[in-house]
Amino acid sequence: RLLIIDFGSQVTQLIARRLRELNVYCEIHPFNLVDDSFLDTFKPKAVILSGGPSSVFAQGAPMPPATVFELGVPILGICYGQQVMMHCLGGKVERGHGTAEFGRAYVTPTARRLDILQGWFETDQDREQVWMSHGDHVSQIAPGFDVFGTSPNAPFAITADTTRHFYAVQFHPEVHHTPNGAKLYENFVRLAGFKGDWTMGAYREEAIAKIREQVGSGRVICALSGGVDSSVAAVLIHEAIGDQLTCVYVDHGLMRKDESAQVVGMFREHYNLPLIHADESDLFLGKLNGVSDPETKRKIIGGLFIEVFEKYAKEIGGADFLAQGTLYPDVIESVSFSGGPSVTIKSHHNVGGLPERMNMQLVEPLRELFKDEVRALGHELGLPASFIGRHPFPGPGLAIRCPGEITREKLDILREADAVYIDQIRKHGLYDEIWQAFVAILPVRTVGVMGDGRTYDFACALRAVTSVDGMTADYYPFSHDFLGETATRIINEVPGINRVTYDITSKPPGTIEWE
Ligand code: XMP
Repeated sequence: RLLIIDFGSQVTQLIARRLRELNVYCEIHPFNLVDDSFLDTFKPKAVILSGGPSSVFAQGAPMPPATVFELGVPILGICYGQQVMMHCLGGKVERGHGTAEFGRAYVTPTARRLDILQGWFETDQDREQVWMSHGDHVSQIAPGFDVFGTSPNAPFAITADTTRHFYAVQFHPEVHHTPNGAKLYENFVRLAGFKGDWTMGAYREEAIAKIREQVGSGRVICALSGGVDSSVAAVLIHEAIGDQLTCVYVDHGLMRKDESAQVVGMFREHYNLPLIHADESDLFLGKLNGVSDPETKRKIIGGLFIEVFEKYAKEIGGADFLAQGTLYPDVIESVSFSGGPSVTIKSHHNVGGLPERMNMQLVEPLRELFKDEVRALGHELGLPASFIGRHPFPGPGLAIRCPGEITREKLDILREADAVYIDQIRKHGLYDEIWQAFVAILPVRTVGVMGDGRTYDFACALRAVTSVDGMTADYYPFSHDFLGETATRIINEVPGINRVTYDITSKPPGTIEWE
């Protein structure tokens, strides 16, 4: 296995991701926990020293144990990792005075070729685009090292000691903006003797072992929403610790048509998960009665969610752990390359504050994964494909798709319209092309004519967006035929709606949800 020593870069997880894509097993460990005895037990076959926001000149600057360089295994140092290598092995690092470099840069090769650069410098006039992010820089390489690539501001952009198989680069090969970066990792792991035979199946086994170790004989409680993340987490944890897990499905009365029955049915019957179906719709809808301000709605729902969850947790006699489907993108506040402070943890939208309040520790088995990897793990766990591919659905549910006051009547109309719309999208084979699609019911009635009669019913808006991560989004370019057909179906099949509009706002400046 490969050891990544983390010096606090915001993009360390991306290194792990690149390695998982190569089917190589790796673990990330923070530098301060890696000592001689750790290395003795871990026995890495190769080591990567990550980037980080520190300066090797700072007091108590993060360093790996010196023995890491005596293991006799290939080592790759990235950015701060390069500086650490030079600092530890007899080179020199200088403070960046006007030589700081952030963003895109181009590296050109020196005369000698380097094994881990196979596939580099083949096109585009012998240069490769890379992503730089450093204040300090290496001013003298360590004995045994040579230079294999330079950039205008980084004369030692690529350096290596080919005898010891130590490689040190100033840029970040793991980020998207270093287009050929994956190749560098591929060459590195191949050289270190990895076969690339690690799989998501293996991840599942390892995750299960870790959960068992963390939880012991403790009790775990999990808020299961039916979303992909909480579902995969719950099924995985259940596989690990069986009935030490209890799931609570909080039905706030703001779910889509048939959703509660489907979710509860699937997890109880198919997966045999111990699941409490907490039907609290009266409570939620009662407290939301007459409320139209979006933030107030969100706060009411968030607060009640915690209350309700706590009530059911007490009913089962308490729990030692709270399971959450937190993903890696939830963990990093923002992926910045500016060398700012490292990882800041963002609280979960829906159960924020719960662990402290109830004195529980967190179990977060998906913390290292990206969304598509969670889907792959869900597939591995046997969750149905239709379920794994589901569009995201927000914690506050239909409340934020019903601008203005929420009434049961409006929610019922919204559910029906949404079901017809999604059916249309599925029938036209568009579901998987779209990141998220839904109907919002508008707080306005308009006049229409149906048959010989006048109607005075609600207007609704269809929303469909493409996105990679929900942070930015574009409206989906449906054909006019599709839109026309869908509007006709909704108006014919859903009493209470007589006008359909299509929302063509991108994000920014709009948001995906209406509230
Ligand atoms: P916006 O509307 O901010 O949404 O563009 C971006 C993505 O986040 C989802 N969303 C939420 N998810 N709790 C959630 O679990 C929330 O409070 C919440 N608000 C928005 C939204 O559906 C979209 O995918």
